[in-house]
Amino acid sequence: MTMEEGSECMYSKIMGCGLLGIDGFMVEVETDIGNGIPSFDIVGLGDTAIREAKERVRSAVKNSGFDFPIRRITMNLAPANLKKEGSSFDLSIALGILASTGVINQAILRQALFIGELSLDGKVKSVIGALPIAICARQNDIKYLFLPEANAKEASVVKGVNIIAVSNLKQTVEAINGEAEIMPVKPSDDYLKPEYIRYDTDFADVKGQENVKRALEVAASGGHNCIMLGSPGCGKTMLARRLPTILPSMTFEEALEVTKIHSIAGILPAGMPLVNTRPFRSPHHTISDTGLVGGGSMPKPGEISLAHCGVLFLDELPEFSKKSLEVLRQPLEDGIITISRVNATLTYPARTMLICAANPCKCGKFLDSSGQCTCTPRQIQQYLGKLSGPLIDRMDIHIDVAAVKYKELDSATSADTSAVIRARVENARQLQLERYKGMRIYSNSQLQPAMFDKFCRLDAKCRNILRSAFDKLGLSARAHSRIIKVARTIADMEGSTDIGQVHLAEAIQYRSMDRKVWNM
Ligand SMILES: Nc1ncnc2c1ncn2[C@@H]1O[C@H](COP(=O)(O)OP(=O)(O)O)[C@@H](O)[C@H]1O
Ligand SMILES: [Mg+2]
Ligand SMILES: [Zn+2]
Repeated sequence: MTMEEGSECMYSKIMGCGLLGIDGFMVEVETDIGNGIPSFDIVGLGDTAIREAKERVRSAVKNSGFDFPIRRITMNLAPANLKKEGSSFDLSIALGILASTGVINQAILRQALFIGELSLDGKVKSVIGALPIAICARQNDIKYLFLPEANAKEASVVKGVNIIAVSNLKQTVEAINGEAEIMPVKPSDDYLKPEYIRYDTDFADVKGQENVKRALEVAASGGHNCIMLGSPGCGKTMLARRLPTILPSMTFEEALEVTKIHSIAGILPAGMPLVNTRPFRSPHHTISDTGLVGGGSMPKPGEISLAHCGVLFLDELPEFSKKSLEVLRQPLEDGIITISRVNATLTYPARTMLICAANPCKCGKFLDSSGQCTCTPRQIQQYLGKLSGPLIDRMDIHIDVAAVKYKELDSATSADTSAVIRARVENARQLQLERYKGMRIYSNSQLQPAMFDKFCRLDAKCRNILRSAFDKLGLSARAHSRIIKVARTIADMEGSTDIGQVHLAEAIQYRSMDRKVWNM
């Protein structure tokens, strides 16, 4: 029997879509209805949600006014070796049954893909991952993607597929049969146009703190990880929150990738289908390892992936457990996180800028000009000393944040806005993109020491400055390559081909955590 034989056909094939990591994969939902003891089986590695789908589908079909066959129903979700999760197969399962019983005209089915969760009364409810599913549909030359109305806007970012938004099963059947016409959803606007880009914060909100802002601009210009040290209330959190606003504008590819991740995590904001601003994620120090890097029985991207293309902020760094910091190390290094599962290995992107904040000591006042710190040298050493290790080693820039002076808070002089700073950052980044073309690195923070000879040559005077800094300031060996990379960025900010003495001298200033007090 084949599916083309009209109402007598008992076999049908409907396309659905599963998710693996941040990508969709095509799933064939095969239905066979035969004689024998009435039953309803779904094979092909479905999880609990798919088993529960049977009950939802049965009710939805009946409550939409169709007969549910009291026969032996066997369904297969192929490929069988990939695990299928979630409720987004409800719609294709229901349509599989209706196709097998001849309720729907099968002509369109080969060009169509269906996703949606069904409620018992037949409504089509929203699903997660509509964007990666739409991308998958386009890659597989699908002409019509039927999906829940609530997901239409999200999917409409993808051009080249007709997005058909449906609200219930009956309407879906009518649309397939040509009894009701549903117009495809209008392709979305270009959400990367400046008028759509909106950050809620701006660097101009921060009074004074010129040297801290400068350091953050350096960090943004070279993609350097950084840590801020300062007493409580000096503005560390406020400054960190504003870092995404000075990073370069996102490209469409970046925006799509970030949106895919946020789509899968189910955290896309309503009304904005494309994430067009750089993410800022600030996980609390009590977060689980899974929350940080992703995974779990229903795998989800972790904070480090939600911060992809943006900023991951670890506020109050000493409060994080050693283990949390350890699990972040590899993904920060690689820019991706790999999660092993029973049947597959998932990878999520995790290219993010890391910024941390910490009090310099337990009482918080060690770096204050007030001289009111009450900690003993040993306490000071212990407080941040416990941070030393893999994560701190990855910090290119250390920033001392002093309390803002009243005079500055009170002053009416206006600071550079984020847009002005961002334009400068984009210039510096452009130089790096051109310099590293074809090398698979994009910013100075990714430079390897082996590349220094080519891109970061230091003249004799610079080498002297660096040597005496090591002797006088007691810098550690790990500081060496960090200083050179940051100096490269500072030179780029000035449009200078060579690294000069002033560039190097400024970069050396950003190594306060290498001070001996924390490295005994
Ligand atoms: N330079 C500044 N300009 C304007 N407001 C500031 C500045 N520094 C601190 N503040 C104010 O002080 C509050 C506390 O700053 P916060 O960022 O929470 O400090 P920290 O994280 O270092 O403890 C901020 O919410 C802000 O209102
Ligand atoms: Mg804070
Ligand atoms: Zn102290």
